[in-house]
Amino acid sequence: MERLDKIISSQGKYSRKEVKKLISNRKISVNEIYVTSSNIKIDIEKDTIKINGVFLDIKKNIYLILNKPKGYVSATKDNKDKTVLELVPENLFRKNLFPAGRLDKDTTGLMIITNDGEFSHNILSPKKHVKKTYEVTIDIPVTQKMILDFKNGIKLNDGVCKPSFLKIISEYTAIVTLTEGRYHQIKRMFGTFGAKVLNLNRICIGNLELPTNLKIGECRELTSEELLKLQEKI
Ligand code: URA
Repeated sequence: MERLDKIISSQGKYSRKEVKKLISNRKISVNEIYVTSSNIKIDIEKDTIKINGVFLDIKKNIYLILNKPKGYVSATKDNKDKTVLELVPENLFRKNLFPAGRLDKDTTGLMIITNDGEFSHNILSPKKHVKKTYEVTIDIPVTQKMILDFKNGIKLNDGVCKPSFLKIISEYTAIVTLTEGRYHQIKRMFGTFGAKVLNLNRICIGNLELPTNLKIGECRELTSEELLKLQEKI
C-alpha cells in the first residue's frame, strides 16, 4: 500500500503539489469516489485511480538510457564522486532507480538505468549472453595477435575470459564485443599486452546502439522498440 500522491507523482506527469491541487479541485477519484486527501493509501494491484475522468495506467517499472559522461560513478550513492543518478531528469526520477551494470568513472557511453531488478539481471548475467560493444583507444598499435587472443579467451587473474571479438578500426582504435562484464575487463584485457586504455566508450548493448542524437550527459526514457533491441542476443 502506498500513498496516493506518491503513486501519481511517481508516474512522472504530475508533481505532488499538482496532485494536491487536483484533489482539492475534486479531479481525482479512487474506485470511482472523489478523494479529499492526498495521503490515503492505495493498493496498486486492486484500486483504480482516475484523473480528470481518465484511468491512470500505473507503470511500476521505468527504463532509462543515459549517454554517460566521464567523471560520474555507476552507483546510487557516493561520498566523493557524482553518481549517474544525478543525471536523471526530475520528472523521470524514481526512488529505487539504479544503474544496470557498471561503467568505470572514466568510461563514457550507453548506460541503462532502471528500477527493475529482474530486467537488469537479464541483460547483465553472463548466462544470458547479451553482448556489450565498446569503442576503445589504446596507447600502442592494435595487433592481429590481440584479435586472436581475444577470440581464444584472455587469461586474467580471476580466470579465462569468454571469447570476445576485436575489430581494428585504426592504428590505435578498435571495437571490442564482450558477453560478460568483469571488473575493469577491457582495461585488464589490453593490459595483458602492455597496453593502456586511453578512451573507452560503450556503443552497444544487445542490438541497441547508443543513439547518435543522445548528447553526452543526456538521459531519457527508452522507447518500447529500444527495450526489445536491448534484450536481443544476436
Ligand atoms: N571494461 C572496462 O575496463 N571498463 C569499463 O567501464 C567497461 C568495460
